[in-house]
Amino acid sequence: MKIGSAEHKERFCTEFIAGHRRFDPATLSWPDLDPAALQRLHSIPFWQEVLYTERRAGAIVAAYSRTITDPLVREAVCLQGFEEARHAELVRVMIQRYGIAAEERSLDEVSGVDLRRAFADFGYGECLDSFLGFGVFKIARRSSFLPEPLFEIFDMLMREETRHIVFFVNWIAWQQVASGHGARWLRGLIAAYYYCRAIGRLLGTVRRGRQAHDGKDFSATQASVFLEGFTLRGLIQECCAEHERRMREFDPDLLQPRFLPRLAGIALGTLRFNNGARVVRDERA
Ligand SMILES: [Fe+2]
Ligand SMILES: [Fe+2]
Repeated sequence: MKIGSAEHKERFCTEFIAGHRRFDPATLSWPDLDPAALQRLHSIPFWQEVLYTERRAGAIVAAYSRTITDPLVREAVCLQGFEEARHAELVRVMIQRYGIAAEERSLDEVSGVDLRRAFADFGYGECLDSFLGFGVFKIARRSSFLPEPLFEIFDMLMREETRHIVFFVNWIAWQQVASGHGARWLRGLIAAYYYCRAIGRLLGTVRRGRQAHDGKDFSATQASVFLEGFTLRGLIQECCAEHERRMREFDPDLLQPRFLPRLAGIALGTLRFNNGARVVRDERA
């Protein structure tokens, strides 16, 4: 199958549409939480930000889907918009059920925005958030930071985000080939540009989260207890392993997000090299 071909488009769209699952956030098996678990859930400082991000995602993706002329691609993007809006609803249900303090601030206007660019920005942002989220989620789950039934609900959301990023990397490659910008080096360069923007936005989110919580960032809150004892290297390894595991669910002939795992591999190699050099220095001293 040639990337960028009609067959490619057919395949990544139909697989995405076929992978959709029906559920209603309001009727999921939300568990009762004891006071300790409830306090841990409340100590996570970014629920307001997550709710905003999912609502904005739903608005951008739905608005972009209306501009697409290809019926199959439009159907797939429209479905993604539905899933993003459902994520917002799921977070809203959780906030209400467990009495979490989070306001719904008004959404930025999407009219007048370059929607294709906004969708691309959003897609690369999802690739970054998901890659980091995979590792943190795995560590939190293993440490039973919250009751397992809650992790089962969040896992449905993670699974959908994984579907979105696989769809996204195929969609953008298909578009790039169709518009004559399909060379691998060029696609890599464009990805690097968008990832820099995504990292900038992520840092902005962390800053806003910190301001909203008296200057404390996530690592200084109770919610980070499950990360205690984890080195940067350990965290990156978990992100890579979990990324690998979640990607196994997808058609191996389709593209998968590879940029961040590769970058993480380079970072791990550098950390290993630095550690090795330090050991040699210490032994000589
Ligand atoms: Fe989402
Ligand atoms: Fe998503």
